[in-house]
Amino acid sequence: MEKKQTFYITTPIYYPSDNLHIGHAYCSVATDTMARFQKQQGFDTFFLTGTDEHGQKIERKAAEKGVTPQAYVDEIVTGIKELWKLMDVDYDDFIRTSDERHAVVVQKIFRQLYDQGDIYKGTYEGWYCTPCESFFTELQLKDGCCPDCGRPVEKTSEESYFFRLSKYQDWLIEYIETHPDFIQPVSRKNEMLNNFLRPGLSDLCVSRTTLKWGIPVDFDPKHTVYVWLDALTNYISALGYGTDHDELFKKYWPADIHLVGKEIVRFHTIIWPITLHALGLPLPKQVFGHGWLVLDGVKMGKSMGNGVDPVVLCNKYGSDAIRYFLMREMPFGSDGQFSNEALLNRINADLANDLGNLVSRSVAMVEKYFDGVLPAPGSYHKLDSALIELALSSPAKERQHMAELQFSLALGDIWQLVGECNRYIDLNTPWVLCKTPEGQERLKTVLYVLCECIRFVAVLIAPTMPRTPGKIFEQLGIGQENLKVWDSLRSFGMLTEGTKVRKGDALFPRLDIQKELEAFGLGQKISPAPQNAPSPKQASAKVAPTKEDAGNGHISIDDFAKVQLRVARVLEAEKVEGSDKLLKLRLSLGEKEPLRTVVSGIAKHYTPEEMKDRQVVLVSNLRPAKLRGILSEGMILCASTADDEVLKLVSVQEGMQDGAFIR
Ligand code: MSP
Repeated sequence: MEKKQTFYITTPIYYPSDNLHIGHAYCSVATDTMARFQKQQGFDTFFLTGTDEHGQKIERKAAEKGVTPQAYVDEIVTGIKELWKLMDVDYDDFIRTSDERHAVVVQKIFRQLYDQGDIYKGTYEGWYCTPCESFFTELQLKDGCCPDCGRPVEKTSEESYFFRLSKYQDWLIEYIETHPDFIQPVSRKNEMLNNFLRPGLSDLCVSRTTLKWGIPVDFDPKHTVYVWLDALTNYISALGYGTDHDELFKKYWPADIHLVGKEIVRFHTIIWPITLHALGLPLPKQVFGHGWLVLDGVKMGKSMGNGVDPVVLCNKYGSDAIRYFLMREMPFGSDGQFSNEALLNRINADLANDLGNLVSRSVAMVEKYFDGVLPAPGSYHKLDSALIELALSSPAKERQHMAELQFSLALGDIWQLVGECNRYIDLNTPWVLCKTPEGQERLKTVLYVLCECIRFVAVLIAPTMPRTPGKIFEQLGIGQENLKVWDSLRSFGMLTEGTKVRKGDALFPRLDIQKELEAFGLGQKISPAPQNAPSPKQASAKVAPTKEDAGNGHISIDDFAKVQLRVARVLEAEKVEGSDKLLKLRLSLGEKEPLRTVVSGIAKHYTPEEMKDRQVVLVSNLRPAKLRGILSEGMILCASTADDEVLKLVSVQEGMQDGAFIR
C-alpha cells in the first residue's frame, strides 16, 4: 500500500523496576495499539519506548545490592524488554538514558541553553522527593511531604544550574490556549493552566552536584543534569537530533502523540515544551494524559505494595486477552478499577462467549452443512443488509474513536458487530433452514454473510489483539494478504466462495471463574500493603469471597467494584407512551461518549421538565434491556419507601463533571 504520512508515538520511558505491573503495561499496550492502528492505516509509523535509568533512587538501590548502577539497570531492562515481547508491544526503538547516543544529545542541549542564557548558575535551596525525582519549594509541600506521593522529602542546598522557565510562562499559556489539541483530555489542560501556569512558574533547578549516576554537564562535570531534563530529551535523542545522523528526526519530529500517565503530564506540558521552544523546535502535536489503573482505590505501584504481575496474567490467559481487557475496560483518560474478577468476566463474556463462539459455530456450520466449503451467497434480504451495513460502517467508527484515543469505545463498536452477528444466527435459525432445499439455499447466504462479517471483525481487532486475527483467518481458510488489510473493508463480499474452512481450537477457552480466583488467592503477587492501603486480609478478600460473606450477605470490594456508577446529565426527558410510570431519558456522560437512553420508573414523582438538565447517578454497566420496546442502557438510582409512595433521585453535590465515576 502506498505510504501516506508519518506518525510518531511514544510511551514515557519507564523507571527500571523489576516489578513492572499491569498499570505500566496499560500505557505501553495503548501506545502499541495506536501504533499498530496507524500502521494498518498505511502511515509510516515510529513507536518509541525505553527506560529512564538515572537518578538517586537507582544509585541507592544499586549500592544496596553492591553492584554498579549500570549493572543494576542492565538486568532490569532485559526483563522489561521481555515483558514487552510477551505482550506484543512492538516498538521501533528502545532508548535507554544510559545510552551514549542519548547522553551526547542531552549535553549538547544543556550547553546550547546555557550559551543562549536560558540556563544560568545559582544556589538551590529546597526540598527533593527521591522516589518522584522532583524538586519542590516549601510552599508546594503538602503537610511537609511530597505533594505528589505524600512521602517525606529531603532538604537540599547546593550550587545548581537553573532553567529560566519563568521567561517562557506567558508564551506557553498562549500556546496552550491557542492549540486546544496540545493537552488532552481537556481536564488536564485546565489543570495545567490553573494549577501550575497561571499561578506563575519559578525557574527550575536543572543540575545536581550530589548525584553521580546521571549525565554530567560537559562544561562543568561536577554537575549532573536533572533527571527530568535528561529523560524528556529521549524523545528526540532517539531520533538522532543534533547529530550527524538526524534523518529520523527530520522525518518524524514533531511527535504526533506523547502518551503519558496523568501524574507526569506536568513535566511533558511545561518543562518539555519550554525546552523545545527555547531550542527553536516545534512542539509535539499532542500530549495525552491517561488515567491510572487502581487497585482497591490506590494507584498500583511496587512502592505502593499492590502491583499485579502482567507476566502471570499473560501466561495464564494469553496477551491478547489481557490487551483486550486493558483497552476495553475503562475509558481512556479516566481512572479504572483493576480486578481479577472483572478481567475473568470479560474474558468469558466478550472473548469466549461472544467472539469465540461466533467463530466456532459459524465455521462448524459451514463444515456441517456444506462440507467445509464456503458457499456463494444468494440475494440479500433485509436482515442481511442490516448486518452488512453495520459491518461496512464499522471502520469509520473505529477510525473516529481512535482519533480521539477512545480505545474502549472503538472496541465497544466492534463488539456491537460481534453481538449482531450472534443475533443474526439466532434470527435466521440455521438449524431449521437446513431441513428444506429452499432453506439450504438461504443458509448459503447466511453463512457467507457471517464469515465475511467475522473477517471484518478480525481486521478491526488486529491493533488491539495482534494474535487473534491470524487464528480467525486460519479457521476461515483465508490465505490472501489482501483480505487481511484495512483497505479490504471498503466493500463487503471480498471473501472468496469455495474457500475451505477449518475448525480449530477455541479462540478463548471458557474459564471456571471461581477456580481461577481461588488460584489467584494462592499464587497472585500482592506485596505488603502501605499504611493507607487495605490490609493483606482485605486484599485477599478482593480475589475470593470468604465463607462468612456467603452467610451474612456481605460482598467483597471486588463484587462492589463490578457495579459502575457514574454521574450523568439528563439532556432530554419524555413520557413513555402508554405508561404512567415510565420516563424515557437521554443522558450525557460527557462530550466524549455517546448519549445513553434510559427508561426509568419515576414518572409519578418527576415530570420531564423537572428532569431536564439534572445530574443523576447512573448504573452504567448494566446489561441493556428493552422496556416497552425501548432499549434501556442502564439504570438511574433513587431512594424510595417500601411502598414507593415517596421516591427521590440520588444525586451528587454540585460541581462534578458529567461522566465522573463514583467509587
Ligand atoms: N520515568 C518516568 C517517565 C519519564 S518520560 C520522559 C516515569 N516512569 S514510570 O515507570 O514511573 O511510569 C511510566 C508510565 O507508567 C507513566 O506514564 C505512568 O503514568 C504509567 N503508570 C504507572 N502506574 C500506572 C498505573 N497504575 N496505571 C496506569 N498507568 C500507570 O514516570
